[in-house]
Amino acid sequence: MAKIAMLGSGFIGRFYADSLQGYRSRDKIVSIYSRRTESAQRFAEDYKVAHHTTNMEEAIANPDVDIVCIALPNNLHEAAVMLCCLHRKAVMTTKPLGRNAEEAKRMLQAVEQAGIFNGYLEDLVYTPKFIKALESVKEGALGRILWAKSRETHPGPHSDWFWDIEQAGGGCILDLGCHCVEITRSYIGKDIKPVEVMCWADTQVKPIDAEDHAIGLVKYENGAIGQFEVSWTFRGGLDLRDEVMGSEGTIWINSFLRTGFDMFTSGKGANYVAEKAESNTGWLFPVGDELNELGYNHMFMDMFNAMEAGEDPKETFYDGYVVNCILDAAYRSAKSKLWEPVQLDIWRGKTGVTKDSHLTEYDADHYLVKEEVTHYGAKKVILKNKKTGKIVERVME
Ligand SMILES: NC(=O)c1ccc[n+]([C@@H]2O[C@H](COP(=O)([O-])OP(=O)(O)OC[C@H]3O[C@@H](n4cnc5c(N)ncnc54)[C@H](O)[C@@H]3O)[C@@H](O)[C@H]2O)c1
Repeated sequence: MAKIAMLGSGFIGRFYADSLQGYRSRDKIVSIYSRRTESAQRFAEDYKVAHHTTNMEEAIANPDVDIVCIALPNNLHEAAVMLCCLHRKAVMTTKPLGRNAEEAKRMLQAVEQAGIFNGYLEDLVYTPKFIKALESVKEGALGRILWAKSRETHPGPHSDWFWDIEQAGGGCILDLGCHCVEITRSYIGKDIKPVEVMCWADTQVKPIDAEDHAIGLVKYENGAIGQFEVSWTFRGGLDLRDEVMGSEGTIWINSFLRTGFDMFTSGKGANYVAEKAESNTGWLFPVGDELNELGYNHMFMDMFNAMEAGEDPKETFYDGYVVNCILDAAYRSAKSKLWEPVQLDIWRGKTGVTKDSHLTEYDADHYLVKEEVTHYGAKKVILKNKKTGKIVERVME
């Protein structure tokens, strides 16, 4: 059983608490920190938490606490992590790890120096669909991964601080791109180095200093390409989709707006439908078990199993740091309009990986371009002569 201090009683703090305590789990929140007494008190009542406080250090230092869960605005992650290091408390932090790579690096180095357990709470690489998809990719069902795209778009976040570039550290690139980058990086291989980023970003709708819409490409050392599409201006709910293309196969995942559950209602008795759903009448796309569909349950299971076994979880501060480095390059590219290198001072994956060959052997003299069975029953092969480079077609029957 893990005894948890929750820092933050807002949107994600409550999602986390529902996941941690909502399924007869043995893990228990024993202390809650929030900015205002009323919020801390309300959270303590709702989740039967023994101790509540408006003093962050008091929650962390509480002797009953084994692990601290940081669910605070982005600008407070670093201070909270440093207090966990000071009090030698295991720590898990919501995404993004830092507002930029510099902050993330300081946090990574601090937890490693303190020798404390550290987990990066990237829930979207723990969704049941993602776990199954990644298993298939790892078993080779898709062959060589060529392109992995992830899209997260919605009509914008739910609290003031997100919209303030100083507190949030960025706009939708940082807020949503962190999910997409870790998803696509996982499909391509977390040991494959991201090398450069090209990104378009703009503020198209909202009266803010940060970007509210962006599209980016992340090039990896093995020639694979990651793509993220993020927006705070999308209308129609929360659009969470991934596409993976490999030399032997394809995966399409729709995690939220199309989960196989469509409902029509005139609006009578209409209630909460799903996160960021914009409507509660007409045709709706509810999500059966949001906590599970969004990966929170599997994520905490991994965190606590790893902590108990004295191992690293699947996602650590190091992953959060790599994601921040990629997003920093995206911000630089959006300004320079050029491919920008990913500056990774700390890299623990493979180095010097070269692009895989794109040539498929057919026979001693030819490479295979394509096989095709036509509607008129012919089987054709299209080949390239290795010596002359000439493309030829053979009809087999
Ligand atoms: N899927 C996800 O993983 C996911 C989803 C939403 C948010 N988040 C992350 O969780 C963190 C918190 O986001 P949220 O949506 O819960 O925000 P929120 O505004 O709903 O809650 C923020 C909490 O922090 C507390 N707080 C303490 N000091 C504060 C201050 N100076 N200003 C504002 N709040 C302060 C508030 O009391 C509140 O309890 C962010 O880092 C965000 O990126 C992650």
